[in-house]
Amino acid sequence: MDSDDAALSGPAPESVAAPAPNTVAENTVSDDDTPLARELAEITRRRAAVEGQQLPLPERTRVITVANQKGGVGKTTTTVNLAAALARRGANVLVIDLDPQGNASTALGVEHRAETTSVYDVIVGDAEIAEVVQRSPDSDTLWCVPATIHLAGAEIELVSLVAREQRLRTALDAYLAQLDHDIHYVFIDCPPSLGLLTINAFVAAREVLIPIQCEYYALEGLSQLLGNIGLIEKHLNPDLRVSTILLTMYDSRTNLANQVADEVREHFPAETLATLIPRSVRISEAPSYQQTVIAYDGSSAGSISYLEAAGEIARRGAPA
Ligand SMILES: Nc1ncnc2c1ncn2[C@@H]1O[C@H](COP(=O)(O)OP(=O)(O)OP(=O)(O)O)[C@@H](O)[C@H]1O
Ligand SMILES: [Mg+2]
Repeated sequence: MDSDDAALSGPAPESVAAPAPNTVAENTVSDDDTPLARELAEITRRRAAVEGQQLPLPERTRVITVANQKGGVGKTTTTVNLAAALARRGANVLVIDLDPQGNASTALGVEHRAETTSVYDVIVGDAEIAEVVQRSPDSDTLWCVPATIHLAGAEIELVSLVAREQRLRTALDAYLAQLDHDIHYVFIDCPPSLGLLTINAFVAAREVLIPIQCEYYALEGLSQLLGNIGLIEKHLNPDLRVSTILLTMYDSRTNLANQVADEVREHFPAETLATLIPRSVRISEAPSYQQTVIAYDGSSAGSISYLEAAGEIARRGAPA
């Protein structure tokens, strides 16, 4: 969390909500020539650019699994904020929380106490997604299939079930087929492991999005992840592709972050988004208000970055 502190005390402004008179920008010696004023102007420009954007909607539902078996790299943060960003730009978006920690359910403000019917009942029991899905207070076009603590036992319970790798896919296909409106994007938030829950997510999706934290050891474990995805593609889901890599918790002031970003781009030039998600206090605060950063502080740099990343994903379209 060292660079988080740096972000707190550093010069980067978080919010660009119309600077009030007599704020720092006005009090500085030369208004538009300080790093702060330049950064504010840059964020204001980026905000206007994303707000003016019309995003294309996909012709068929894009199902995107957000996975990385490393813990704490930004999977959940990326899932909920991309989902909220796309919902805000006019898409119908479903988030499936497949992590017993239930962090995506928390961030989207949906009920997920132990007794709530949830993704556990869909995967291990016979519930349909339609019975457990909840609308997020974040947006009228954003829904969430919550996860409860019961999901923690699912890895073991799944072992003895028929078609144990296909259970989420079967449920999702049935749900999408019976809806009377289109869902444009489904994001599946995975736990930090490569067990049966993550395998269910890989089988249900056509695309994988890998968040990579701009930190030391970032690339460790990546070859194992790609190897597993390759195995799923070969044996269980020939349509699966790693479509997107997103660099998260980027702090431009550290050489290390820049090195990691360069290295990832070198290895995955086609998949890596141009947008980097900065390390941002606003992003880390939002979940404690049961909100995405898009709802919590829509004009912060973190929010704008997720809106930009969502724009890239929408414009690139699904992989062929
Ligand atoms: N860009 C960011 N800036 C600051 N903090 C962030 C950022 N992205 C994520 N965080 C914080 O880092 C922590 C880990 O993020 P997150 O929960 O999204 O990772 P994860 O990969 O889903 O973790 P897990 O493997 O436990 O599921 C959280 O406390 C989150 O709020
Ligand atoms: Mg998570």
